[in-house]
Amino acid sequence: MALKIPAKKTPEEIAKLQQEIRKLKKEKNAFILAHYYQELEIQEIADLVGDSLGLSEAARDAKDAKMIIFAGVHFMAETAKILNPKMKILIPNPDAGCPLADQCSAELIEATRKEYDEDIPVVVYVNTTAETKAAADVTCTSSNAATVVKNLGVKKVFFGPDKNLGLYVKKTLPDVEVIPIPKNGHCYVHRRFDVATINEIKKQYPDAVVIAHPECNPEVQDIADFVGSTAAMIYFGKETEAKNVIVATEKGLVDRLNHDHPEKNFILAKDTAICKNMKKNTLELVRDSLLYEQHEIIIPKEIHDKAEKAILRMFELT
Ligand code: 13P
Ligand code: SF4
Repeated sequence: MALKIPAKKTPEEIAKLQQEIRKLKKEKNAFILAHYYQELEIQEIADLVGDSLGLSEAARDAKDAKMIIFAGVHFMAETAKILNPKMKILIPNPDAGCPLADQCSAELIEATRKEYDEDIPVVVYVNTTAETKAAADVTCTSSNAATVVKNLGVKKVFFGPDKNLGLYVKKTLPDVEVIPIPKNGHCYVHRRFDVATINEIKKQYPDAVVIAHPECNPEVQDIADFVGSTAAMIYFGKETEAKNVIVATEKGLVDRLNHDHPEKNFILAKDTAICKNMKKNTLELVRDSLLYEQHEIIIPKEIHDKAEKAILRMFELT
């Protein structure tokens, strides 16, 4: 059932909800994790803000909490559950899915394996469902995709679902054949960036450096001064001496960079680069998940065990 997204709130309403959440969080001994793509008002009440892998690792290590509220999209909360199966993991809005994750099913992996009839390992991005991870050999993130593929030590891999991340891996490892599954998997947010718009922004800020996520199209990656994962972009933003930085990734991360480094100017490379799926989580829903302990992530044991194997293989290889 799709949940209704409330209209924009006043600063007073935000402060009131945040206060309610902080109180409930204490009472329930809950740990709140938020992805960088969440609205700042949610990031502010989180115990930890991070990228998908960092948050899952934090969920794995959060042994003292009674429950975890995972403000992100569904596959992220699932990954957290796989890494900490005994923990109660709640997602504020169960309808917050990732359209990229939905583009590679377990059935598609099985069919592709049969089609090729060769022993080719299947590497899937963490942006996949637990079922898909269970059907794969190993997972990867945007930070470690090339390292995972390199350390597999093979000449050919199936890679899904993001085609652009696969092309980025191929560029880093030209000797490896990277076969995309599906053929054209993509993130609708990162695909929105284009060279013409970035060049227009550069006219206004000629000294600006450009940073891009590897889910962006190859031509955008080619003109970027730096291509990196969410965590890498956060680090770049902190360390760079550039005053103006054009950023090709989701708006939440750009808001965060501007919040953390007010002396620098981070410019979103396309103002429509907003993940509406991530924004399905709201303060009201974070409060409700604490209050009613609702929308728990449940993964069947068989899927859990196989998906865990693929994730642990990633840790072994990196
Ligand atoms: P990270 O794994 O870098 O957090 O990114 C997740 C994502 O959804 C990118 O679009
Ligand atoms: Fe999925 Fe793209 Fe949104 Fe990331 S930004 S959660 S890949 S739709």
